[in-house]
Amino acid sequence: MKSKTLIIGACGQIGSELTHKLRAKLGVNNVIASDIKARNLDLVTSGPFEIIDAKNKKQLKNCIEKHDIDTVYLMAALLSATGEKFPQKAWNLNTTSLLNILNLAKEKYIKKVFWPSSIAVFGPSTPKKNTPQQTVMEPTTVYGITKQVGERWCAYYHKNYGVDVRSIRYPGIISWKTLPGGGTTDYAIDIFHKALKDGHYECFLTEDTALPMMYMEDAVKATLDIMKAKNSDIKIRSSYNLSAISFTPKQLASEIIKNIPSFTIAYKPDFRQQIANSWPNSIDDTAARQDWNWKHSYDISMISQNMLQQLEKSERLNVL
Ligand code: SER
Repeated sequence: MKSKTLIIGACGQIGSELTHKLRAKLGVNNVIASDIKARNLDLVTSGPFEIIDAKNKKQLKNCIEKHDIDTVYLMAALLSATGEKFPQKAWNLNTTSLLNILNLAKEKYIKKVFWPSSIAVFGPSTPKKNTPQQTVMEPTTVYGITKQVGERWCAYYHKNYGVDVRSIRYPGIISWKTLPGGGTTDYAIDIFHKALKDGHYECFLTEDTALPMMYMEDAVKATLDIMKAKNSDIKIRSSYNLSAISFTPKQLASEIIKNIPSFTIAYKPDFRQQIANSWPNSIDDTAARQDWNWKHSYDISMISQNMLQQLEKSERLNVL
C-alpha cells in the first residue's frame, strides 16, 4: 500500500521545517524531500532527496511512482516581493505546479494534497481589521493573484473530482532556521538578525504597518493539524483564514529593546510598503478554530525571546 509523503520546495523556509517534523513523525525514509536545487545542505542530507521542477508534471509523476507517494505538500512558490520583480515567472511556477499536483490527484496517483495560500489573496478593497473568511478579494500583487486563482482551482477539483486538497492562508511566518526569500513580511525575521549583528535595523516598512504574523512552530502545527483532520471536518476547500498575532515594526522593535536595550531602528519604506498596505492588519480565523480545532501558542514576546536565543545559539555554534 502507498503511504509515503512528498514535500515539494523542501529546501525553503517552511518546507525545510515541515520536512524535519514529518520525518521525525513518520520515519526518515517515508518522507521524500524535493526541490529544484539542492540548496539546503542540512535538509538534503537528512534523508531521501530528489531534484524536481514542480512545473514538470512528468518529473512529478515519476517521483510519485518511484517512491509510492500518497500525500503531497506543495510548498514551492515565488513570494510577493520577488513576484513583483518577475511576474511571469511567479505566475508560471505558482499556478503550473498546483495544477500539476491537482491533476495527479484527479488521476489517482496521489490521495491527499496540502497547498498553502496566503494573506496576499486579499487586496486594498478587503476589510482590513479582522478580515473575514469570506469577503471581497481583489489582490494587486501577482503572488496574490496566483494564490486566489489557486484557491478557486482547489475548490473546483474538490467539488468536481473529489480531490482531497487542504489549504490555509498563511500570515507572515517568523523563523530562525532557514531564511525566507522575497516576501514582504520578511522584515520580521531580518530585524532579529540585524539586531544581534549590528544593533540596528533599517526597516523597509513604516513603523505603524500592522500585519498578521505567526511563529514557525505554530505554522507547522496548523499544517499538520489540517492534514490529520477528518475529511468531513474540512468544510472549506478553497483555503482557511489562519491567525495568531498582529503587530507593527514599532511594536516588534519595542519587544527587541526589552532584550537588547541598545537596539535602534530606522524606517525607510520601499516598494514593499505598497504591498503591505494592500494586505489585512488582522485576520478572523473562527472557521479554522471551529472546524479543525486550530489554536496558536506563541505571542509576540515569546517569539522575540525565542528568535534571539536561537539565533545567538546558532551563531555560537557556527563560530566554534
Ligand atoms: N510571507 C508572504 C510574503 O510576504 C505572504 O504570504 O510574501
